[in-house]
Amino acid sequence: MNGILLSLLFLCTVNFSQCCWKDHDCHDHSCQYGSRCHLRSCRCIECLEDGHCQCSAGQISECSSFHFFGHTSHHCVCHGNYPATQQPFVKLECNHQKISVIESIAENLHVEDSRAEPCPGTTKHQTSEAFVINKCNSKARSSWSKGEQVKTECSNDAISPYTPISTFYDQGNMAAFLIDCTKTTDGVVIGLTIAVQTCHDAPMVMNLNETTTPRMSEFYTILQQK
Ligand SMILES: *[C@@H]1O[C@H](CO)[C@@H](O)[C@H](O)[C@H]1NC(C)=O
Repeated sequence: MNGILLSLLFLCTVNFSQCCWKDHDCHDHSCQYGSRCHLRSCRCIECLEDGHCQCSAGQISECSSFHFFGHTSHHCVCHGNYPATQQPFVKLECNHQKISVIESIAENLHVEDSRAEPCPGTTKHQTSEAFVINKCNSKARSSWSKGEQVKTECSNDAISPYTPISTFYDQGNMAAFLIDCTKTTDGVVIGLTIAVQTCHDAPMVMNLNETTTPRMSEFYTILQQK
């Protein structure tokens, strides 16, 4: 018993500033999702919901919780890469929204959707994702995963107009609708025409090639977690 008590005290003094007896003692600790008292020291809570867990593309993120002597503990679990045939992802398609997309370009008004992040420094949810999420009734970007490269799909004539597309970086992404691919007479894709809104610009038509920002080869079709 003394041994246990000693080890608890030892754990506590290792980092005295984070020493605690109850979760309540940790309320000042600066953690994104709050903190709890674990083995006499304050630890950050990893997640509160699945969306808080960052897993690689193609993986399912889960905020797993378990109960232990009156405490609930949360931690992130990434469910591993699924073979193409059993992917829990479906391609996001909304070709039937063509008219609605064209109307938004004509109206020249931002499309807002609360499922998208707000634009930096504002409360307006009118990012490029908001346009796609709203027209396609899609879930938030956190449920998206990278599909096929648009440039390749274009050269194979395997993509239809008004397919939603996106870049897939950690941040600074752009989502849009493909309108058309420009090809040379021998079938080489040299440009994409897209419909897009940005935080700054209402829905508009934009031409992309390999010298623009973003570049046309950075765009992929969107897979959405089921
Ligand atoms: C790429 O697009 C820009 C902007 O539309 C255009 O000015 C430029 O000439 C294009 N470059 C090529 C190689 O097509």
